[in-house]
Amino acid sequence: MTTYKIVQAGCGAMASAWIKYALEREDSEIVAFVDLYEAAAVKMNEKHGLSVPWFASVEEAIRQTGANLVFDVTIPSAHKTVATAALEGGCHLMSEKPMAASMEEAEQLAELAATKPELHYSIMQNRRFLKDIRALRELIGSGAIGKPSFVTADFFIGAHFGGFRDAMESPLIMDMAIHTFDQARLIIGANPVSVYCHEFNPEGSWYAGNAAAVCIFEFDNGAVFTYNGSWCSEGLRTTWEAEWRIAGSQGTASWKDAPPFAEVVSPAQEAKFQYEYDRIEAPYNWHGREGHNGCLDEMFQAIQEGRPAETSYADNIYSTAMVFGAIRSAKEQRKVMLRRP
Ligand SMILES: NC(=O)c1ccc[n+]([C@@H]2O[C@H](COP(=O)([O-])OP(=O)(O)OC[C@H]3O[C@@H](n4cnc5c(N)ncnc54)[C@H](O)[C@@H]3O)[C@@H](O)[C@H]2O)c1
Repeated sequence: MTTYKIVQAGCGAMASAWIKYALEREDSEIVAFVDLYEAAAVKMNEKHGLSVPWFASVEEAIRQTGANLVFDVTIPSAHKTVATAALEGGCHLMSEKPMAASMEEAEQLAELAATKPELHYSIMQNRRFLKDIRALRELIGSGAIGKPSFVTADFFIGAHFGGFRDAMESPLIMDMAIHTFDQARLIIGANPVSVYCHEFNPEGSWYAGNAAAVCIFEFDNGAVFTYNGSWCSEGLRTTWEAEWRIAGSQGTASWKDAPPFAEVVSPAQEAKFQYEYDRIEAPYNWHGREGHNGCLDEMFQAIQEGRPAETSYADNIYSTAMVFGAIRSAKEQRKVMLRRP
């Protein structure tokens, strides 16, 4: 059995979910904390009753502990440095989204990872690991609504974080929309080829950068996906999973704040102006754990089985491309082509 000696890079708000997961596993041990601030590591040790040593760099932590796995839970602008140090230090890597702070950085990381096929590099996409979205995916995959062709997601939340997000140029697209974009790829079962995006910062926003966006993506199976999102929208909030409508050739599926279902054209009807519909509930056949634990289970399982994880860098680069393509489209005020599968 592989045993994992883990360097936990980043001891901020998100770190505890990763630390708790590692502590639960019998085959894993956290051997180092890396953070810009020693005080952050001290706080993590106190919070979890640990006495893990602190290092100022991932390189040093790997060298001194002989670690074989890095958890990167630092801020997006640090992911490239941390990921490079992890892969060059011969460690598997599990990273928080987004892969990096720019498409160029993400491509460079993908190129580096491709030269090290023995190492597993996966990205946290916890919002794929939910019973509802798995049921929705199965409903769409069953062909019940026909071919999905027009997919919409509405995301409206007033989120007062404080911290790094308030200062980012594109907080919604960089830090949140990656989840919804990645969910769209899972639901549609295809990859994006282009995007047109209008990004803006609505009146009354408490963010320095653009906290709202409208995007139109085209997918390689012909589907069109539109995204309306805001992180500074007060009142009538949607869920964090967004509100979805998936229109296909035979019917439409819906996922809002309730189990997904579809309305499909009832069989054997006379031709008429508007058809009768049958309601189909989404099947709940997925029994994994939800959220971070589910995604981490899959990442570790992939290492055990010697296969890429569902959210490996090679898959996740398409979700990453949606993020940076959208930002580029908004800046250049034109439709942008994305990387081809
Ligand atoms: N998957 C999710 O649902 C989800 C939710 C929240 C945050 N996140 C992601 O998790 C990551 C961390 O977010 P957070 O909310 O914990 O941020 P945070 O600011 O609370 O913590 C980040 C920590 O990283 C440290 N850090 C910064 N640069 C570093 C560097 N170069 N080397 C080592 N440490 C460094 C900071 O000192 C801080 O302690 C981000 O990528 C964020 O997008 C994901």
